[in-house]
Formats: sequence, structure tokens, C-alpha cells
Amino acid sequence: MSLTQLRDRGAPTSLPRVTADVLLQKKRAGQPITALTAYDFPTARLVDEAGIDLVLVGDSVGMAVLGYENTLPVTMEEMLHHTRAVSRGVRHALLVADMPYGSYQASIEDGIRNATRFMKESGAQAVKIEGGHKHADLVARLRDAEIPVIGHIGLTPQSVHRMGGYRVQGRSTEAMDILCADAVALEAAGAIAIVLEGIPRELAAVITARSAVPTIGIGAGPDCDGQILVFHDLFNLTFSPAAKFSRQYADGAAFFSRAIEQYRDDVAGRYFPSDAESYHLPREVQAERIESDAEEKHLCKA
Ligand code: KIV
Repeated sequence: MSLTQLRDRGAPTSLPRVTADVLLQKKRAGQPITALTAYDFPTARLVDEAGIDLVLVGDSVGMAVLGYENTLPVTMEEMLHHTRAVSRGVRHALLVADMPYGSYQASIEDGIRNATRFMKESGAQAVKIEGGHKHADLVARLRDAEIPVIGHIGLTPQSVHRMGGYRVQGRSTEAMDILCADAVALEAAGAIAIVLEGIPRELAAVITARSAVPTIGIGAGPDCDGQILVFHDLFNLTFSPAAKFSRQYADGAAFFSRAIEQYRDDVAGRYFPSDAESYHLPREVQAERIESDAEEKHLCKA
């Protein structure tokens, strides 16, 4: 019996839940960590049942699903809503919720309050925060509040306006030193892992080698301890040109478009629904109807 069938029957799965410790063991054993975003129940089930280690409900939901221009407008309520849906579909992977822009920048208290909401109200097992040393105090306070935190440095999409666009970071010696110091600060503050986004492969390799906690790369080359991509990038569902670092594994847009056009044509041509796709009256009710129709016709004639 497949894992999916077992789950459909409500039976416990044999796959144990991924924890921060599992990620650490994988780093130490040199086994790559697999991670992917998900934003709703069906994609969460697919990702989880494929055995992906970490599911991130990224604030990329704003662009991938909600149609925003960038991640800045995403709210706590939107993130909680999507994280709850994902948590209903995830049983194996470590479930991480992204702290949206504005939920932790103003004060440490804001950060603790909002991270606590993810833990209490959404089923998340960890939160992710963009930024390095400047948020190290918050990471330490969250650790003390029993909230596992994943750091995120390099190209941090919430800093799009400061960066002047989505640009590769850490290309100068000075910028490399700052990012290395960011990673050290996050590790010292108790982060369970660090996302490295949009940085040169060579820098990611150095940070990964020096870091005691796992690094998870996106646009950071193959030498990180793990890789993460955005679900919609994998399936060509973004309606924008793909970034150099993302690999398209299937053309979901073409697949869905073909099916939608076929459905449109079937309805327009009256090929859908068929008789087999229709409900019918029970035989005795049909017989009764025929009888009463016949009687009615007879009375009308008389
Ligand atoms: O929001 C997101 O999806 C992310 C990943 C790209 C790491 O932060």
C-alpha cells in the first residue's frame, strides 16, 4: 500500500516528523536537505508526500498566489491563513512560516508576539526572519521563547527597495565579510538554519563550511547543505521570466491551459456533461412520471 493510500485511510505514516535536529544530522552526514514552498492544502500534501524535508510557507505567497508586485504588502493574517491550510496537509516535513514585512521590524516585542501567533494559531514549527546581525537579538529572544528560527541573508526580498531591485548580494570583499558576520551572528543567537539567497556560489561555500548549522540555498549554488525553491517556479506558474537559479521541472501553465480550453470547448459544444456524468431519477419514480404524463395527455384530449 502506498503512503498516499495509508494517509487516505487515516493510518499513521512510517515517516517520522522532521525536526531541527534532523536537519542538523543531515548536514553532519553530508546529506542534502530538500526544501520547497507551499501555500495551500493540495500543494502541501504533494510536497509532503514526496518526502521533502522542509516546507516553507514563504511570504512569496504574495507574488506567487496573491498577485502582489512584491512581498511587502503581505500581512500576518494572510500568512496565518495560508500556514493553517498548509499545516493541514503536512505530516512529515518541518513546517516553517515566514514572518512578513512589518511583523518584526519595529520592535523585538512585535517579533515575539507575531512569531508566537504562528506557533499558537497556525501549526508552524518554526519561523523564518530576513536579516542577519541586526535581528540577532530577536532570534535569541525567540529561541528563549522556545520558537525555532531560520535566518535568511543575502538577497532578502523584503529589502527590495533598499537593494534597488532583486540583485545578487555579497560580490565585493566588504559585502562578503558582512554576510559572513551575519551568518556567525545568527548561529550564535541560536538560529536552527540559515537561508542563503542570491549570493555567489563561492561565498555560500565559505559560509556553509564555517557554519555549524545547516545552510539552505536559493540562487546560492550547489555547495549549501540544502536547497529551496518556490513551488510556482518549479511548475512555470509565475507568469514572469524564470530566474537563472530556478529550474523548471514541468510546464504547469501549459498543462492547466490545455485542460481549461478542453473543458471550455466541451461545454460550448454540449459534450459535457454526458449522460454518464448526470444523476437520474430512480426507476420507480421515472415509471410514475411516465404514467402521470400519459394520464395528463389523455385528460387534455378528452
Ligand atoms: O518567501 C520565500 O519563498 C522565501 C524563499 C524563497 C526562501 O523566502
